[in-house]
Amino acid sequence: MARSALERLVVDVPDFPEPGIVFKDISPVLADHDAFTVVIGALAQSGRDDQGRVVVDKVVGMEARGFILAAPVALALGCGFVPVRKAGKLPRETHAVSYELEYGRATLELHRDAIAPGDRVLLVDDVLATGGTVAATNQLVEQCGGTPHAVSVLMELGFLDGRSKADGVPVDSLLTI
Ligand code: PRP
Repeated sequence: MARSALERLVVDVPDFPEPGIVFKDISPVLADHDAFTVVIGALAQSGRDDQGRVVVDKVVGMEARGFILAAPVALALGCGFVPVRKAGKLPRETHAVSYELEYGRATLELHRDAIAPGDRVLLVDDVLATGGTVAATNQLVEQCGGTPHAVSVLMELGFLDGRSKADGVPVDSLLTI
């Protein structure tokens, strides 16, 4: 599937969730079986080496839209899936990282035993915007003793330069806007 065809399936929604914001709705990509299949295969490439060998142990997805992509990527790679959740959602002992948003703060959490020391981890999300989510998730993985191997996103808002917050972890995006 051509990049332009994929791009056409992402719908711009002006003034959502608030005036002045253009929301990028990826749900038509998910609703199209061919597009969804291509996207999962492409995102999973970031967890393979040049010979196609899987080089990660876990795939982490960030709540909520990241879950939709990260879980099938984990299955495609033959890895376990690990959720990073917003504060207060995970039931057992967690690591927590807070970060600044444009207005206020957000906290993400990860079960302490979800990543084993030495695990190589692929981060998967739908959108990379400011990079706050990726930076916090990298820290959570490191607090467990894991190593972030790469970040794989469907869409990157390039003008926000979120990849500069990835602390040198390679960022692969299928679409850059
Ligand atoms: C969105 C998106 C990413 C994050 C990217 O999630 O799914 O996880 O924002 O933004 P950043 O690079 O500026 O951190 P959101 O928190 O809106 O939650 P949702 O997936 O639950 O809608």
